[in-house]
Amino acid sequence: MFQKDTRNAMAAKVYAQQIAFAPFVFQSSRILRDFGILSIIEESGETGINTKDIHAKTKLSEYSVRVLLEAGLGIGLLTIDEDRYILTRTGYFILHDKMTIANMDFTHDVCYQGLFDLDKSLISGKPEGLKVFGNWKTIYEALAHLPDHVKKSWFAFDHYYSSDSFPVVIDHVFKSNPAKILDIGGNTGKWALSCFAHSPTVRVGIADLPGQLNVAKQTISKNGYTDRAEFFEVDLLNENCPLPKGFDVIWMSQFLDCFSENEIVSILKRCYDALPANGQVIILEPLWDKQTYEVSAFCLQMTSLYFTAMANGNSQMYHSELFTGLIRKAGFSFVERIDRIGICHSMMKCSK
Ligand SMILES: C[S@@+](CC[C@H](N)C(=O)[O-])C[C@H]1O[C@@H](n2cnc3c(N)ncnc32)[C@H](O)[C@@H]1O
Repeated sequence: MFQKDTRNAMAAKVYAQQIAFAPFVFQSSRILRDFGILSIIEESGETGINTKDIHAKTKLSEYSVRVLLEAGLGIGLLTIDEDRYILTRTGYFILHDKMTIANMDFTHDVCYQGLFDLDKSLISGKPEGLKVFGNWKTIYEALAHLPDHVKKSWFAFDHYYSSDSFPVVIDHVFKSNPAKILDIGGNTGKWALSCFAHSPTVRVGIADLPGQLNVAKQTISKNGYTDRAEFFEVDLLNENCPLPKGFDVIWMSQFLDCFSENEIVSILKRCYDALPANGQVIILEPLWDKQTYEVSAFCLQMTSLYFTAMANGNSQMYHSELFTGLIRKAGFSFVERIDRIGICHSMMKCSK
């Protein structure tokens, strides 16, 4: 992956312009979608529809419709037949593809404004862009307090990637017949619900920051599983915050990417101390070099910059070698790693 320069000079120069104008491409594509223009054009089918008729179906001026449509041609969302616009395949994906929608909403609602300060974050090691939402140390502290539409896009992005993997990995996690599983970074309790549905007896502990833990408590209670759940309010950035003992498996999904290399080692060492001799840590994580397609790696490499500018200033979607080195540094050895789970995950089973 990424070993060849695949563009000839002309293609490279074209692509360089697409990068130079990337914010324009992004915003006008999103607006064509959100103002309903792509849908109007899709409804017109292969015949297409002209500017006047599109304008009549929107609340925008003819000028606004025109500049958006012309941008849509250059971007490749639309083609034109005489004066009639027709939706392209890319336009179709912008409108309907679940992954594209999750990525676009996350980019706009959570990251767009803050990314302006990416350079400052790279220098300071702090999520300088997070200031657009207030004075927080990390986005995880802020999460419960973010505006509703921002929260919605953050959760949709997070859940889009993890939800598909849970049904695939659950049998692997239950192979050792754990009586008690601790989910750290348990978030809204989605993994715990999967476990309760999978096993009639398993008990699940959820450890997270207070904001997320409250949501998890409500979700578990609404689903009638409170008697099999335990909740632990933790801030694992605090090196003196231990993890609770008595669990056979410590599970973490899309969690360690929220931490720097040293923080990961520190958290895993605390897992080591909390687990019994035959206990396991099971990690579900997107590793960018373990993707089948370059475009999947691209999505993860871009997501790393969200961590830099918005989340905490010092973490990322890791490369497998760097990541496994950190697991070993904490004292764990590998039992197995399974790649290509769900959309983008690898599952790593580690023992003491
Ligand atoms: C990206 S989400 C992953 C959620 C879930 N495990 C999933 O796979 O969808 C990361 C989770 O880690 C939690 N987290 C982040 N920093 C934390 C900290 N310092 N201590 C405890 N939990 C933290 C967040 O609150 C959030 O619920």
